[in-house]
Amino acid sequence: MDSLDDFAAAKLAALDRGGLRRALAETARGALYVERNGRRLLSFSCNDYLNFTQNPQIKAAAIAAIERHGVGSGASRLVTGNHPLYAELEARLARLKDTEASCVFGSGFLANAGIIPALIGPDDLVLLDELSHACLWAGARLSRAGVLAYRHNDVGHAAELLRQHRGRHPRALIGTDGVFSMDGDLAPLVELGRLARQHDAWLLSDDAHGIGVVGGGRGSTFAGAAPADVPLQMGTLSKAIGGYGGYLCASRRVIDLMANRARSLIYSTGLPPATLAAAIAALDLIARDPDLVARPLAKARTFTRKAGLPEAQSPIVPIVLGSATAALAASRRLEQEGFLVVAIRPPTVPQGTARLRFAFTAGHPDAEIERLADLVRERVHA
Ligand SMILES: Cc1ncc(COP(=O)(O)O)c(C=O)c1O
Repeated sequence: MDSLDDFAAAKLAALDRGGLRRALAETARGALYVERNGRRLLSFSCNDYLNFTQNPQIKAAAIAAIERHGVGSGASRLVTGNHPLYAELEARLARLKDTEASCVFGSGFLANAGIIPALIGPDDLVLLDELSHACLWAGARLSRAGVLAYRHNDVGHAAELLRQHRGRHPRALIGTDGVFSMDGDLAPLVELGRLARQHDAWLLSDDAHGIGVVGGGRGSTFAGAAPADVPLQMGTLSKAIGGYGGYLCASRRVIDLMANRARSLIYSTGLPPATLAAAIAALDLIARDPDLVARPLAKARTFTRKAGLPEAQSPIVPIVLGSATAALAASRRLEQEGFLVVAIRPPTVPQGTARLRFAFTAGHPDAEIERLADLVRERVHA
């Protein structure tokens, strides 16, 4: 066992030297405030954009589902874990995203790890935005296809790569975040959709940070004047939806294929019924309350205006500080003032772009946002 522990110790020491070692910090959460290291902090580091993790109606739906159906699903969806609540949730997701069908996975990560290899194989081509989320990269690599990165949001570069490489591969897929998880900007989905059609490539958009908060709650495909042409709309139920799980919205045939080919769906236990009931209740609230849906972005824009930053495009606002140590120091300064804004460091973001990442939610008090913006202007961004 010595070589194993030696290996782990050497890796950890290297991370320490670069200011890149991470630790799991125990954090008790409410809707807005967290408790960490014995302190109560207003969190700007939760993706709970609509504060649904603590919403009384959603909690009641989950509790009722536990009382009625128990805590677990008991098996993979293809065995006996396909609870009737799945059909209701999948119908609602498909309606929201205007697709024929949808399929719910165990998580967003599991969705991308299953979707891409179900569609794409070793002879094929995957083109990813260079800032795509780790699970798009994981799915692409699991497919064993040739994987190329195009420069962030650079449709011209994606076109050039397709011109050079598309002809050598039977199938091609373009993958991108819809709302970029660490940058908060939106992908040019209309242009990417057009490019994908021209080259018979399949566009997959990861809308983890779009559903519930942009495009009137329908996500980044719907954020422009007209919906983008995105045949594979993937996302998660763990952020604005407040619970857990991932999904793909697509044509009926593609969804049927998932149940036959997506290994992360086939060989993983179905979600607990309470999680399905919570997501259904969350989607109901999103459909009924457009004002609530608009609030996280409005709050982010209040912040960017007051802090003198470029206008927020989504509820996520980054301030890139460069080194990991600078980002950690800025995070500690804000923590001293009662705010939790976790430093984001490589490899989550590229080398030299460590940052503070602010996530705004519907319930953040304006007065606190203004105090935070003042602090940022004076002490972080000065
Ligand atoms: C863009 C993006 N895609 C996918 C995921 C993974 O989703 P989940 O947390 O449901 O696994 C995340 C969240 O971490 C994300 O930010």
